[in-house]
Amino acid sequence: MSILFDSEKKIFKLDTAGSSYVIRVDKNGFLLHLYYGAKIPDVNLPDFEKRCRYASFSATTPEADGDYWSGFTPDTWPFEVGCNGCADMRTASLQIRNADGNAATDVRYVSHQIYAGKPGIPGLPALFANEESDCETLEILTRDETTGAEVTLVYTVFEKLSAMTRSLIVANASEKAFEIERVMSFCMDMNSCDYDLISLYGRHMKERDFARRPLSHGVQGVYSRRGSSSHAQNPFIALIGRGGNEEYGEAYGFNLVYSCNFSAIVDVDYNNSSRVMMGINPDDFGWTLQPGERFYTPEAVLVYSDAGLGGMSRTFHRLYNRHLVRGEWAHKKRPLLVNNWEGTGMDFDDEKLLAIAAWAKETGLEMFVMDDGWFGKRDDDTNSLGDWVVNEKKLRGGIGSLISRVKALGLKFGIWYEPEMISPDSDIYRAHPDWCVHVPDRARSLGRHQCVMDMTRADVRDYLFNIMSEVLANNDIDYLKWDFNRNITEAGSALLPTEKQKEFYHRFILGTYELMDRITKAYPHLLLEGCSGGGGRFDPGILYYAPQSWCSDNTDALSRIDIQFGTSLCYPASMQGAHVSASRRTSYETKRNVAMWGTFGYELDPAKISEEDRAVIKTQIADYHQYYDLIHYGDLYRLICPWDDPYRAAWAFVSEDKTEFMFTVVVKLYMEARNFFLKMKGLDPDKRYVCEETGEVFSGALLMNAGLSLFRYPNGDGESFALHFKEATTCK
Ligand code: GLA
Repeated sequence: MSILFDSEKKIFKLDTAGSSYVIRVDKNGFLLHLYYGAKIPDVNLPDFEKRCRYASFSATTPEADGDYWSGFTPDTWPFEVGCNGCADMRTASLQIRNADGNAATDVRYVSHQIYAGKPGIPGLPALFANEESDCETLEILTRDETTGAEVTLVYTVFEKLSAMTRSLIVANASEKAFEIERVMSFCMDMNSCDYDLISLYGRHMKERDFARRPLSHGVQGVYSRRGSSSHAQNPFIALIGRGGNEEYGEAYGFNLVYSCNFSAIVDVDYNNSSRVMMGINPDDFGWTLQPGERFYTPEAVLVYSDAGLGGMSRTFHRLYNRHLVRGEWAHKKRPLLVNNWEGTGMDFDDEKLLAIAAWAKETGLEMFVMDDGWFGKRDDDTNSLGDWVVNEKKLRGGIGSLISRVKALGLKFGIWYEPEMISPDSDIYRAHPDWCVHVPDRARSLGRHQCVMDMTRADVRDYLFNIMSEVLANNDIDYLKWDFNRNITEAGSALLPTEKQKEFYHRFILGTYELMDRITKAYPHLLLEGCSGGGGRFDPGILYYAPQSWCSDNTDALSRIDIQFGTSLCYPASMQGAHVSASRRTSYETKRNVAMWGTFGYELDPAKISEEDRAVIKTQIADYHQYYDLIHYGDLYRLICPWDDPYRAAWAFVSEDKTEFMFTVVVKLYMEARNFFLKMKGLDPDKRYVCEETGEVFSGALLMNAGLSLFRYPNGDGESFALHFKEATTCK
């Protein structure tokens, strides 16, 4: 049992292998957050909610009858839900405007249930249990007696993984409609502010850069208002103890399973306590709930580690590999692919594509992916999105002919779509100008010359499903790259009534999820890869449907290091699309070494590279197969991070049973000093490991404590190397 309820003390204790989370129901029904951190055996946490003796100007609850000296005012208490407009004055996590027009909200405990397994969330992606015994769930029902709002807090504990999820269900149990103005997926008042806040910011071509700053009094956090989780900020934050680093210190990771406008907030109050919350961005959001209706929030994932950021990341990686990726692609080896985008752009015909495919087969690759430019009259990005009908001038004989010729080579076939977009210069736009996101009497801003399809509309979703099915159902297609190349502006739908326009953004992403769900159910063998101008929608919401995501349009190996290190804080190698391309700088060796940290592939036109480079590429394929399991299912150790060292980056994958590992070093900038010992992490000190490249044998203890001298290995700008080790069974 990982969830305990002590009925005498009214305490819930949620335990995982390495963490405990403790909640108390106070005598007036408030849900108090007592503790989240390293595992503790106790259920007795006396006075944990008492943060100060007397708080002038902070009101008491009506039940306290003005007794300030009891030491309790909601403004200083640690809550599981931060209610707006009563005696808690901090940033609220729940705000409901009731039928009277005020937004005072106050939910109190009613009942709870604890059960094995994990529920899904209607219409939304969510982590899942493979077997009931993986997880245990606690649902706490609360109620606002004044408004009739019933709010259920849902907690699921992944016992073996130091991870849990939280979400909320709001139900209208009254006779009148009310409006949810703010509903964060979780809220937690930590009793300290001695943490640094880590977030992943970026832009197109430079996604998920690492940012670290100390918490200070007031509100801080990250958000998106772009109609997508976005390049600008990933829906991920971490809090790490002030001196903490990769290996040491407490680290709390928070990730939202959501692909639209989000907000992650840390509000540090005058008592030095930190309210952490994450959920749908309350800006430009409102949801009217009629009597009897329910609203489900996206879920947040909470990970705790007492082994620094590295420990936190490894837990996220295992969790997502096991409990986020569904269907056959959870366990099936991902195909080694070549994509024509960087090689040809939209300037191709069937013969050019077949030449790339023939090279791919000869080189030992497994799948050919045809990118943008195959439909409508699309030779550049000014037109045709939405007209998902093959351009027979480019693909003579139609798409079926191309696919059968690729298949005849013995390759799988993949295709590119950008379903949620519509070009003003398209037949579908001319026929249905109101099918795009827009507001009346206001010009439609364009991004990459395109508008966004109104995914809130069932007719639009049906159109997309049907027109995509004409290709997907009639051809043997193995893979679909699902792109999204602009953000949303002038957010509105022609079909939503005035009072529901505030629901637009959330309804938009529910529409996208519904279409993704229909496609994955109708074509269960299809492997989806998410994409958004590179990695602009790299979040667990999309990853639930598309188990891998193109990491960035920047395929330069040295730039990719920063992007992949940042991405790895939360997302495993099996999810990050990484390809070798012909792009600038570095040798094919370094390009390969960097791209191996992901769903490996190539993105080039072989006709445009030298015979020598083609020969090198041919030698790279065997390694991909040999180390696939180690990279995709092993534990990642970030040995030298770009945010700590501008000269070198190093990382390692260690198998779960610690019998095998590989590490990679990339020299970003030449350094004169050659004295360089690299210390491994995560090995078994008592095992001896043999280096496959040199035959040398070392103990795990030596490799981790003394390190390996890298004196004789490459050290020039952009050079790199990887070494592989296996447990030495015979040598001593
Ligand atoms: C985006 C993607 C690229 C490519 C182009 C096609 O930018 O990130 O990989 O698919 O669109 O237009």
